[in-house]
Amino acid sequence: MAKICSFVSVKGGTGKTTTTVNTGLTLAREGFRVLVLDANLEGSNVSFHLGLTTHDLATVHDVLNRECEPGEAIYTHPSGLNLMLGGSRLGDLGVKADGFKDLINSVRKDFDFLIVDCSSGLGSDVKSVIDSSHEVVIVTNPELPAVVDALKIVKYCEANDYYIRGVVVNKSSNKSELLSDDIESILGRPVISEVPDDSEVRIALRERTPIVEFKPKRRSARAFKNVAFKIGGLGRLEPLTIWDRILNKFIK
Ligand SMILES: Nc1ncnc2c1ncn2[C@@H]1O[C@H](COP(=O)(O)OP(=O)(O)OP(=O)(O)O)[C@@H](O)[C@H]1O
Ligand SMILES: [Mg+2]
Repeated sequence: MAKICSFVSVKGGTGKTTTTVNTGLTLAREGFRVLVLDANLEGSNVSFHLGLTTHDLATVHDVLNRECEPGEAIYTHPSGLNLMLGGSRLGDLGVKADGFKDLINSVRKDFDFLIVDCSSGLGSDVKSVIDSSHEVVIVTNPELPAVVDALKIVKYCEANDYYIRGVVVNKSSNKSELLSDDIESILGRPVISEVPDDSEVRIALRERTPIVEFKPKRRSARAFKNVAFKIGGLGRLEPLTIWDRILNKFIK
């Protein structure tokens, strides 16, 4: 039975999809049976990160519209990562999200982890995913508005007694508005990984290859891997060689 882990943020563009795809891929490469579910119904874009198009594939929208069975909408990427992608047709907009709970329950028996990429905000679609999850990962940027928004997720989870695994602080830099310590004290939750703002992450998206595969030794890639290692209970990442550390310091 899969452990269900949802990646959420109230503010848009914090890096939920990037974190989800890199986490899912890392867990799959570590030998787990993983399904990444694109639950961002209005702005599905997990497929972009892996160079896939959904024209010929059944999607989460088709499942929610009862046009196919959940199993028919699972695509296995050559990496071994399983995906239920979102549709990109105009007619896919406006699909009702109230079937998420049943969808998640019907697929979870076949996987070790179900990693869910949510839309931004805390609308009924996101709440229904959180309500079905074993754990929630908050993705934020080190900016006051994003962190204050993230507090709403903490409050929602507290009110319902849901487990928050922790916070991923994405796109951090030495010019960030907030340090991880500040974020921990505002949210009252641990920062499980701090991912640098790294132009290579954007280039990885351009190349349709997640950064954990595109540039596995980058600090950003290792920070994303670290999220997966925490969720998977895999202990610590193997340390980099001195040479790789020097490269990371000097190659921007
Ligand atoms: N660590 C990073 N360094 C630099 N760019 C990043 C980093 N993480 C993500 N990005 C870029 O930020 C943009 C938004 O990322 P992403 O789509 O993952 O955010 P999101 O939270 O899923 O957005 P949405 O709320 O629209 O679903 C993308 O262009 C992505 O390449
Ligand atoms: Mg997204």
